[in-house]
Amino acid sequence: MKKSIIRDINLASQGDKKLQWVRNHMPILNHLENDFVKGQYFKGKKVVVCLHLEAKTGYLAQVLKAGGAEVAVVASNPLSTQDDVVAALVKDGIKAYAWYGASNEEYLEHLNAALDFGPDLIIDDGGDLVALLHKERSDQIKEIIGGCEETTTGILRLKAMSKEKQLKFPMMAVNDAYCKYLFDNRYGTGQSVWDGINRTTNLVVAGKNVVVIGYGWCGKGVAMRAKGLGANVIVTEIDPIKAIEAHMDGFRVMPMQEAASTGDFFITVTGNCNVIRKEHFLEMKNGAILANAGHFDIEISKKDLSEISFEKKTVRANIEQYCLPNGNSLYLLAEGRLVNLAAGDGHPAEIMDLTFAIQALCLQYVMNNKGNLKADVYPVPDDIDKKVAKLGLSTLGIKIDSLTYEQISYLESWDA
Ligand SMILES: NC(=O)c1ccc[n+]([C@@H]2O[C@H](COP(=O)([O-])OP(=O)(O)OC[C@H]3O[C@@H](n4cnc5c(N)ncnc54)[C@H](O)[C@@H]3O)[C@@H](O)[C@H]2O)c1
Repeated sequence: MKKSIIRDINLASQGDKKLQWVRNHMPILNHLENDFVKGQYFKGKKVVVCLHLEAKTGYLAQVLKAGGAEVAVVASNPLSTQDDVVAALVKDGIKAYAWYGASNEEYLEHLNAALDFGPDLIIDDGGDLVALLHKERSDQIKEIIGGCEETTTGILRLKAMSKEKQLKFPMMAVNDAYCKYLFDNRYGTGQSVWDGINRTTNLVVAGKNVVVIGYGWCGKGVAMRAKGLGANVIVTEIDPIKAIEAHMDGFRVMPMQEAASTGDFFITVTGNCNVIRKEHFLEMKNGAILANAGHFDIEISKKDLSEISFEKKTVRANIEQYCLPNGNSLYLLAEGRLVNLAAGDGHPAEIMDLTFAIQALCLQYVMNNKGNLKADVYPVPDDIDKKVAKLGLSTLGIKIDSLTYEQISYLESWDA
């Protein structure tokens, strides 16, 4: 097993403070941690956690370790790693293979080092770890009991693998749990995208035209919070139902080509590639700000942007100016990577409390069902979703009603 690959262990005390802060704001994980300490459910198991390596993820890794697992962490994105948090995890006895700003070669080296750890269970975000296991480390697959996938894009990739009978172990579609996408994708992305953009640009949003590309769960959150900040929100979509939804939610809907000349801010959240490209850049106003919140940095075509620009320079941390021959400058945030993580701290702790509670319980579910689950993509069981929702309500001090016997029988009858 390789020793940890990190930037600087001396950053640990700073990382510890970040971990303590989120620990104080993630009561559902606190509850699971207490249970895991008693139960030691993961004893003898090795877990590789491949997620955005900031404090909330760090705490999830610590919770799994508290449950008896040997844990290694690796970054799912080279620009979201917080070196101080990673150092604190290593001090705490967790293996780590990541540093901020890793090159593509280093990123691959880190993923390989994490797999050298020899996991029984994995948590992936975007599918890179699973893809590497299947493409280059297939001899290791027989050791993997299964795992969990965090995000929409990763689940799309897993389903494509499963359809072609290429997926070789069971994976839980964590993103598709109600307690994940309803809150994480919508409210988490909604808030943290604007946190990332605002702290990076320090520009006003009120009165500006904000173009949200993609009105899925993340896009709804980004548009809703843009409206709250006083922006005029425009939505572009390819799905007619989502387009009507955006219209009824009070937003202008139009094709990207039309929106291109109108927007002051453009935010992509489609999970698709090249949704903003050459013909759109050429129509944009001078000073337009471009940001992506979808999983990969392929939604805004950096290739096209480079090709049509005669100069590119960094004008502020996480802002690159592209100078076009027509005299306009376009500003790309965080190299087109997830703006809320690469230029911010990601979703609020209370939101990730729900998501990571689902992760921890799904990982336990996969382990407990070794041999019963085939190599496929599985939905999160309803009882896990409900358990996390109930724990969430109780930590918020919110009580709800229960059905009476009369109501149950009414709802189950057809001739009442
Ligand atoms: N930034 C974050 O922290 C964060 C959090 C969760 C998910 N994600 C990622 O964000 C992306 C979107 O996730 P989601 O859960 O909202 O997915 P979703 O499937 O709910 O929504 C995506 C939407 O984009 C639309 N779309 C696709 N191609 C388009 C195009 N060319 N033009 C306009 N619209 C288009 C689809 O019709 C769909 O409505 C994924 O890559 C996901 O992994 C990011």
